Amino acid sequence: MTDTTFIAKQHPPRVLGATTALVTGANGGIGVAFVQALLDQGAARVYAAMRDPASLPQQWQGDSRVVPVKLDVTNRADIAEAAARYRDIDLFICNAAVTCIGPVSEKDETTVRHVMEVNYFGPVMLTQALSDALRSRRGGIIYVLSMAAMIPPGPAPVYSASKAACAMYAAGVRSELGKQGVQVTLCFPGYVDTRQSAAFKSRKASPESIANETLRAWTEKQSHVFPDAFSQLVLAEMARDGATMLTDPEGARKELARKHEEQSTMAELAAPEGSAQS
Ligand SMILES: NC(=O)c1ccc[n+]([C@@H]2O[C@H](COP(=O)([O-])OP(=O)(O)OC[C@H]3O[C@@H](n4cnc5c(N)ncnc54)[C@H](OP(=O)(O)O)[C@@H]3O)[C@@H](O)[C@H]2O)c1
Repeated sequence: MTDTTFIAKQHPPRVLGATTALVTGANGGIGVAFVQALLDQGAARVYAAMRDPASLPQQWQGDSRVVPVKLDVTNRADIAEAAARYRDIDLFICNAAVTCIGPVSEKDETTVRHVMEVNYFGPVMLTQALSDALRSRRGGIIYVLSMAAMIPPGPAPVYSASKAACAMYAAGVRSELGKQGVQVTLCFPGYVDTRQSAAFKSRKASPESIANETLRAWTEKQSHVFPDAFSQLVLAEMARDGATMLTDPEGARKELARKHEEQSTMAELAAPEGSAQS
Protein backbone atom coordinates (compact mmCIF):
# COMPACT_ATOMS: atom_id res chain seq x y z
CA MET A 1 0.00 0.00 0.00
CA THR A 2 1.46 3.40 -0.97
CA ASP A 3 1.36 6.41 1.34
CA THR A 4 -1.16 8.05 -0.97
CA THR A 5 -3.52 5.09 -0.73
CA PHE A 6 -3.18 5.13 3.03
CA ILE A 7 -4.06 8.85 3.21
CA ALA A 8 -7.01 8.40 0.85
CA LYS A 9 -8.37 5.60 3.06
CA GLN A 10 -7.94 7.64 6.22
CA HIS A 11 -9.54 10.71 4.67
CA PRO A 12 -12.02 9.55 2.05
CA PRO A 13 -14.29 12.21 0.56
CA ARG A 14 -17.74 12.54 2.04
CA VAL A 15 -20.56 11.00 0.03
CA LEU A 16 -24.07 12.35 -0.35
CA GLY A 17 -25.68 9.06 -1.38
CA ALA A 18 -27.85 7.74 1.50
CA THR A 19 -27.30 10.96 3.48
CA THR A 20 -30.02 12.46 5.64
CA ALA A 21 -29.91 16.27 5.58
CA LEU A 22 -31.80 19.15 7.15
CA VAL A 23 -32.00 22.39 5.15
CA THR A 24 -33.40 25.60 6.68
CA GLY A 25 -35.20 28.07 4.43
CA ALA A 26 -35.96 25.11 2.16
CA ASN A 27 -38.78 26.93 0.38
CA GLY A 28 -36.54 29.84 -0.77
CA GLY A 29 -34.17 30.27 -3.74
CA ILE A 30 -30.88 28.68 -2.62
CA GLY A 31 -32.64 26.41 -0.10
CA VAL A 32 -34.79 24.89 -2.86
CA ALA A 33 -31.65 24.37 -4.95
CA PHE A 34 -29.90 22.62 -2.04
CA VAL A 35 -32.80 20.23 -1.46
CA GLN A 36 -33.01 19.38 -5.16
CA ALA A 37 -29.23 18.93 -5.50
CA LEU A 38 -29.20 16.61 -2.47
CA LEU A 39 -31.98 14.50 -3.99
CA ASP A 40 -30.26 14.46 -7.37
CA GLN A 41 -27.08 13.20 -5.71
CA GLY A 42 -28.78 10.34 -3.92
CA ALA A 43 -29.73 11.69 -0.48
CA ALA A 44 -31.99 9.24 1.33
CA ARG A 45 -34.04 11.86 3.14
CA VAL A 46 -34.16 15.64 3.31
CA TYR A 47 -35.87 17.47 6.14
CA ALA A 48 -37.08 20.56 4.29
CA ALA A 49 -37.37 23.08 7.12
CA MET A 50 -39.47 26.20 6.59
CA ARG A 51 -41.65 28.59 8.53
CA ASP A 52 -44.79 27.38 6.81
CA PRO A 53 -44.72 23.73 5.64
CA ALA A 54 -47.69 24.50 3.38
CA SER A 55 -45.20 26.40 1.21
CA LEU A 56 -43.40 23.13 0.30
CA PRO A 57 -42.59 23.52 -3.40
CA GLN A 58 -44.89 21.57 -5.70
CA GLN A 59 -42.01 19.55 -7.16
CA TRP A 60 -41.61 17.52 -3.93
CA GLN A 61 -45.22 16.98 -2.98
CA GLY A 62 -45.72 13.22 -2.71
CA ASP A 63 -41.94 12.57 -2.70
CA SER A 64 -41.35 10.37 0.35
CA ARG A 65 -37.70 11.43 0.53
CA VAL A 66 -38.71 15.02 1.40
CA VAL A 67 -40.13 15.63 4.87
CA PRO A 68 -41.55 19.13 5.39
CA VAL A 69 -40.63 20.45 8.84
CA LYS A 70 -42.07 23.53 10.52
CA LEU A 71 -39.06 25.50 11.67
CA ASP A 72 -38.89 29.23 12.26
CA VAL A 73 -35.24 29.74 13.19
CA THR A 74 -36.19 32.44 15.70
CA ASN A 75 -38.56 30.07 17.53
CA ARG A 76 -36.80 28.16 20.33
CA ALA A 77 -39.66 25.62 20.63
CA ASP A 78 -39.44 24.79 16.90
CA ILE A 79 -35.68 24.30 17.25
CA ALA A 80 -36.01 22.07 20.31
CA GLU A 81 -38.68 19.95 18.65
CA ALA A 82 -36.69 19.49 15.44
CA ALA A 83 -33.56 18.52 17.39
CA ALA A 84 -35.47 16.01 19.54
CA ARG A 85 -37.38 14.47 16.66
CA TYR A 86 -34.76 14.29 13.90
CA ARG A 87 -31.69 12.68 15.39
CA ASP A 88 -30.61 10.98 12.17
CA ILE A 89 -29.22 14.11 10.49
CA ASP A 90 -25.84 13.69 8.76
CA LEU A 91 -25.72 17.15 7.20
CA PHE A 92 -27.21 20.39 8.48
CA ILE A 93 -27.43 23.17 5.88
CA CYS A 94 -27.87 26.45 7.73
CA ASN A 95 -29.34 28.53 4.93
CA ALA A 96 -32.34 30.61 6.09
CA ALA A 97 -31.78 34.35 6.37
CA VAL A 98 -33.39 37.72 5.86
CA THR A 99 -31.89 40.67 4.08
CA CYS A 100 -31.91 44.27 5.30
CA ILE A 101 -31.18 46.89 2.67
CA GLY A 102 -30.77 50.58 3.53
CA PRO A 103 -28.68 52.92 5.66
CA VAL A 104 -28.05 52.16 9.33
CA SER A 105 -29.66 55.47 10.30
CA GLU A 106 -32.99 54.22 8.94
CA LYS A 107 -33.00 50.92 10.82
CA ASP A 108 -34.72 50.90 14.21
CA GLU A 109 -33.83 48.56 17.05
CA THR A 110 -36.65 46.10 16.31
CA THR A 111 -35.45 45.67 12.73
CA VAL A 112 -31.80 45.25 13.66
CA ARG A 113 -32.63 42.74 16.41
CA HIS A 114 -34.83 40.74 14.04
CA VAL A 115 -32.03 40.50 11.46
CA MET A 116 -29.64 39.31 14.18
CA GLU A 117 -32.24 36.82 15.48
CA VAL A 118 -32.66 35.20 12.06
CA ASN A 119 -29.13 35.47 10.66
CA TYR A 120 -27.05 35.04 13.81
CA PHE A 121 -28.94 33.68 16.84
CA GLY A 122 -30.93 31.24 14.69
CA PRO A 123 -27.76 29.53 13.41
CA VAL A 124 -26.25 29.62 16.92
CA MET A 125 -29.26 28.00 18.60
CA LEU A 126 -29.68 25.42 15.83
CA THR A 127 -26.01 24.49 15.97
CA GLN A 128 -26.21 23.99 19.71
CA ALA A 129 -29.36 21.91 19.41
CA LEU A 130 -28.06 19.66 16.61
CA SER A 131 -24.40 19.30 17.51
CA ASP A 132 -24.73 16.21 19.75
CA ALA A 133 -26.44 14.27 16.97
CA LEU A 134 -23.99 15.56 14.34
CA ARG A 135 -21.03 14.61 16.54
CA SER A 136 -22.33 11.12 17.18
CA ARG A 137 -22.93 10.56 13.45
CA ARG A 138 -19.66 12.30 12.45
CA GLY A 139 -21.80 14.43 10.19
CA GLY A 140 -21.38 17.94 8.86
CA ILE A 141 -22.61 21.51 8.66
CA ILE A 142 -22.72 23.97 5.78
CA TYR A 143 -23.20 27.61 6.78
CA VAL A 144 -24.55 29.73 3.94
CA LEU A 145 -22.95 33.09 4.68
CA SER A 146 -22.29 35.88 2.16
CA MET A 147 -19.50 37.93 0.62
CA ALA A 148 -21.29 40.77 2.43
CA ALA A 149 -19.64 39.35 5.56
CA MET A 150 -16.21 39.95 4.04
CA ILE A 151 -16.26 43.26 2.20
CA PRO A 152 -16.99 46.60 3.87
CA PRO A 153 -20.72 47.26 3.95
CA GLY A 154 -22.35 48.68 0.86
CA PRO A 155 -26.12 49.01 0.57
CA ALA A 156 -26.98 46.51 3.33
CA PRO A 157 -24.79 47.24 6.39
CA VAL A 158 -27.10 45.64 8.98
CA TYR A 159 -27.29 42.45 6.90
CA SER A 160 -23.49 42.51 6.45
CA ALA A 161 -23.01 42.81 10.22
CA SER A 162 -25.27 39.82 10.88
CA LYS A 163 -23.47 37.69 8.30
CA ALA A 164 -20.04 38.74 9.62
CA ALA A 165 -21.12 37.70 13.13
CA CYS A 166 -22.35 34.37 11.82
CA ALA A 167 -19.15 33.84 9.81
CA MET A 168 -17.03 34.26 12.95
CA TYR A 169 -19.31 31.93 14.88
CA ALA A 170 -19.16 29.35 12.07
CA ALA A 171 -15.35 29.54 12.05
CA GLY A 172 -15.41 28.80 15.79
CA VAL A 173 -17.74 25.84 15.26
CA ARG A 174 -15.47 24.53 12.53
CA SER A 175 -12.47 24.74 14.79
CA GLU A 176 -14.22 22.94 17.70
CA LEU A 177 -16.47 20.37 16.04
CA GLY A 178 -13.93 19.72 13.28
CA LYS A 179 -11.73 18.07 15.89
CA GLN A 180 -14.65 15.79 16.77
CA GLY A 181 -15.20 14.51 13.25
CA VAL A 182 -17.82 17.01 12.05
CA GLN A 183 -17.08 18.45 8.58
CA VAL A 184 -17.92 22.18 8.66
CA THR A 185 -17.84 24.22 5.45
CA LEU A 186 -18.36 27.98 5.25
CA CYS A 187 -20.00 29.13 2.00
CA PHE A 188 -19.61 32.75 0.84
CA PRO A 189 -21.82 33.45 -2.19
CA GLY A 190 -21.74 36.69 -4.16
CA TYR A 191 -24.90 37.82 -5.93
CA VAL A 192 -27.40 34.99 -6.51
CA ASP A 193 -30.59 35.18 -8.53
CA THR A 194 -33.23 34.85 -5.78
CA ARG A 195 -35.89 36.94 -4.04
CA GLN A 196 -33.26 38.23 -1.60
CA SER A 197 -31.17 39.95 -4.27
CA ALA A 198 -34.07 41.21 -6.39
CA ALA A 199 -33.12 44.85 -5.66
CA PHE A 200 -29.62 44.45 -7.13
CA LYS A 201 -28.82 44.81 -10.81
CA SER A 202 -25.44 43.03 -10.70
CA ARG A 203 -24.83 39.85 -12.68
CA LYS A 204 -26.00 36.95 -10.56
CA ALA A 205 -25.16 33.27 -10.25
CA SER A 206 -27.95 30.69 -10.35
CA PRO A 207 -29.05 29.12 -7.04
CA GLU A 208 -28.44 25.69 -8.60
CA SER A 209 -24.79 26.47 -9.33
CA ILE A 210 -24.29 27.70 -5.74
CA ALA A 211 -25.85 24.55 -4.25
CA ASN A 212 -23.89 22.15 -6.47
CA GLU A 213 -20.55 23.88 -5.98
CA THR A 214 -21.06 24.08 -2.22
CA LEU A 215 -22.00 20.41 -1.90
CA ARG A 216 -18.95 19.52 -3.97
CA ALA A 217 -16.77 21.54 -1.59
CA TRP A 218 -18.35 19.88 1.45
CA THR A 219 -17.85 16.37 0.09
CA GLU A 220 -14.22 17.29 -0.65
CA LYS A 221 -13.88 18.54 2.93
CA GLN A 222 -13.09 22.15 2.07
CA SER A 223 -13.21 24.58 4.97
CA HIS A 224 -14.48 27.45 2.78
CA VAL A 225 -16.15 27.77 -0.59
CA PHE A 226 -16.42 30.83 -2.82
CA PRO A 227 -18.97 29.35 -5.17
CA ASP A 228 -19.36 31.90 -7.98
CA ALA A 229 -17.48 34.34 -10.18
CA PHE A 230 -18.10 37.40 -7.97
CA SER A 231 -17.05 35.73 -4.71
CA GLN A 232 -13.89 34.43 -6.39
CA LEU A 233 -13.14 37.91 -7.74
CA VAL A 234 -13.50 39.45 -4.27
CA LEU A 235 -11.27 36.76 -2.77
CA ALA A 236 -8.59 37.45 -5.40
CA GLU A 237 -8.81 41.23 -4.81
CA MET A 238 -8.55 40.74 -1.04
CA ALA A 239 -5.40 38.71 -1.55
CA ARG A 240 -4.01 41.31 -3.97
CA ASP A 241 -4.88 44.49 -2.05
CA GLY A 242 -6.94 43.83 1.08
CA ALA A 243 -5.86 47.13 2.69
CA THR A 244 -7.78 49.18 0.12
CA MET A 245 -10.99 47.37 1.07
CA LEU A 246 -10.59 48.77 4.57
CA THR A 247 -9.24 52.23 3.79
CA ASP A 248 -11.34 53.01 0.69
CA PRO A 249 -14.41 50.74 0.77
CA GLU A 250 -16.42 52.89 -1.66
CA GLY A 251 -13.62 52.88 -4.23
CA ALA A 252 -12.97 49.16 -3.70
CA ARG A 253 -16.65 48.30 -4.23
CA LYS A 254 -16.81 50.37 -7.43
CA GLU A 255 -13.70 48.67 -8.75
CA LEU A 256 -15.10 45.23 -7.88
CA ALA A 257 -18.35 46.04 -9.69
CA ARG A 258 -16.44 47.22 -12.77
CA LYS A 259 -14.22 44.11 -12.86
CA HIS A 260 -17.19 41.80 -12.28
CA GLU A 261 -19.08 43.33 -15.19
CA GLU A 262 -16.01 43.12 -17.41
CA GLN A 263 -15.31 39.47 -16.49
CA SER A 264 -18.97 38.48 -16.94
CA THR A 265 -19.07 40.05 -20.39
CA MET A 266 -15.86 38.27 -21.40
CA ALA A 267 -17.21 34.95 -20.08
CA GLU A 268 -20.43 35.44 -22.04
CA LEU A 269 -18.52 36.18 -25.24
CA ALA A 270 -16.33 33.11 -24.72
CA ALA A 271 -19.25 30.77 -23.90
CA PRO A 272 -20.79 28.65 -26.65
CA GLU A 273 -24.12 30.04 -27.85
CA GLY A 274 -27.08 29.01 -25.68
CA SER A 275 -24.98 27.85 -22.71
CA ALA A 276 -26.34 28.84 -19.28
CA GLN A 277 -24.66 31.40 -17.04
CA SER A 278 -23.50 29.97 -13.71
N1 LIG B 1 -29.41 35.89 -2.99
C1 LIG B 1 -28.20 36.35 -2.81
O1 LIG B 1 -27.69 37.19 -3.59
C2 LIG B 1 -27.36 35.84 -1.66
C3 LIG B 1 -26.01 36.20 -1.63
C4 LIG B 1 -25.22 35.74 -0.59
C5 LIG B 1 -25.77 34.94 0.39
N2 LIG B 1 -27.09 34.62 0.35
C6 LIG B 1 -27.61 33.79 1.43
O2 LIG B 1 -28.23 32.64 0.88
C7 LIG B 1 -29.19 32.15 1.80
C8 LIG B 1 -30.49 31.87 1.08
O3 LIG B 1 -31.01 33.11 0.60
P1 LIG B 1 -31.82 33.23 -0.77
O4 LIG B 1 -31.02 34.06 -1.67
O5 LIG B 1 -32.25 31.89 -1.20
O6 LIG B 1 -33.05 34.12 -0.30
P2 LIG B 1 -34.61 33.86 -0.28
O7 LIG B 1 -35.07 33.32 -1.57
O8 LIG B 1 -35.19 35.11 0.25
O9 LIG B 1 -34.78 32.69 0.81
C9 LIG B 1 -34.60 32.95 2.17
C10 LIG B 1 -35.19 31.78 2.93
O10 LIG B 1 -35.02 32.03 4.33
C11 LIG B 1 -36.28 31.79 4.95
N3 LIG B 1 -36.45 32.49 6.20
C12 LIG B 1 -36.49 33.82 6.43
N4 LIG B 1 -36.73 34.06 7.73
C13 LIG B 1 -36.83 32.84 8.34
C14 LIG B 1 -37.06 32.41 9.67
N5 LIG B 1 -37.25 33.28 10.67
N6 LIG B 1 -37.09 31.07 9.92
C15 LIG B 1 -36.93 30.18 8.93
N7 LIG B 1 -36.72 30.52 7.65
C16 LIG B 1 -36.67 31.85 7.37
C17 LIG B 1 -37.31 32.22 3.92
O11 LIG B 1 -38.58 31.67 4.25
P3 LIG B 1 -39.96 32.47 4.02
O12 LIG B 1 -40.40 32.13 2.62
O13 LIG B 1 -40.86 31.92 5.07
O14 LIG B 1 -39.66 33.93 4.19
C18 LIG B 1 -36.69 31.61 2.67
O15 LIG B 1 -36.98 30.23 2.59
C19 LIG B 1 -29.28 33.19 2.91
O16 LIG B 1 -28.48 32.79 4.00
C20 LIG B 1 -28.70 34.42 2.26
O17 LIG B 1 -28.21 35.34 3.20
C21 LIG B 1 -27.91 35.05 -0.65
